[in-house]
Amino acid sequence: MEVIIVERPQDAAPIVADACTSLLSAKPAAVLGLATGSTPLPVYAELVRRHREEGLTFAAARAFLLDEYVGLAADHPERYRAVIERDFTGHVDLDPAAVVGPDGLAEDLAAAGPAYDDAIRAAGGIDLQILGIGVDGHLAFNMPMSSLASRTRLKTLTPRTREDNARFFDGDLDRVPTHCLTQGLGTIMESRHAVVLGFGRAKAQAVRECVEGAISAHWPASVLQLHPHATVVVDAEAASQLA
Ligand code: F6R
Repeated sequence: MEVIIVERPQDAAPIVADACTSLLSAKPAAVLGLATGSTPLPVYAELVRRHREEGLTFAAARAFLLDEYVGLAADHPERYRAVIERDFTGHVDLDPAAVVGPDGLAEDLAAAGPAYDDAIRAAGGIDLQILGIGVDGHLAFNMPMSSLASRTRLKTLTPRTREDNARFFDGDLDRVPTHCLTQGLGTIMESRHAVVLGFGRAKAQAVRECVEGAISAHWPASVLQLHPHATVVVDAEAASQLA
């Protein structure tokens, strides 16, 4: 596991964007794994800048999202497929049809998880997976005590997650979905290069447990210690509890 400590979150953006740029230049049809949330936003902004100013192209690339809410209408602005388009993919030349997330509107939600893992495999697997770490060490919607071997599957959102996310639904808890489909930790572990980002003091304990703690379902991101190519990029505050 490689750990890169930068001064400020915006200093992480060129580092991760460089990994993405080299990948795309070596393999234009690369498969990207994209997280939503606030942490990767500086990286996405830098990739958009490189696309606009330096000709970085995603025209042949594909992207898979980490997770999706269950039951939000296809045109709901808080669907993660809509969020990633606003935050990133809609501002570059990625073919919209090549950006997919788990099908939160599937009739058979139990089958939608394995179908998503099959789609990732059929695309050749994820070359570069961008991840944000949660305060409690979660990755995607794999909260503490998720199986380290888990696959993409239906999960119940915890009361804490629903409360945290109510801000995206006008503060109305009743409008926050109760379930999600999320890539499993085992699925994430199959990516060829996993880049996990963490910024701010609130993430410091999770970063410490991820990098230096015991590998345990108590801190799901700690499973990345077993990943053959994991890069942790954190700012000084998030790194403040590292030995
Ligand atoms: C996003 C996701 C989540 C976030 C995590 C950190 O697709 O699955 O695991 O990466 O909750 O969120 P932020 O970046 O908003 O602190």
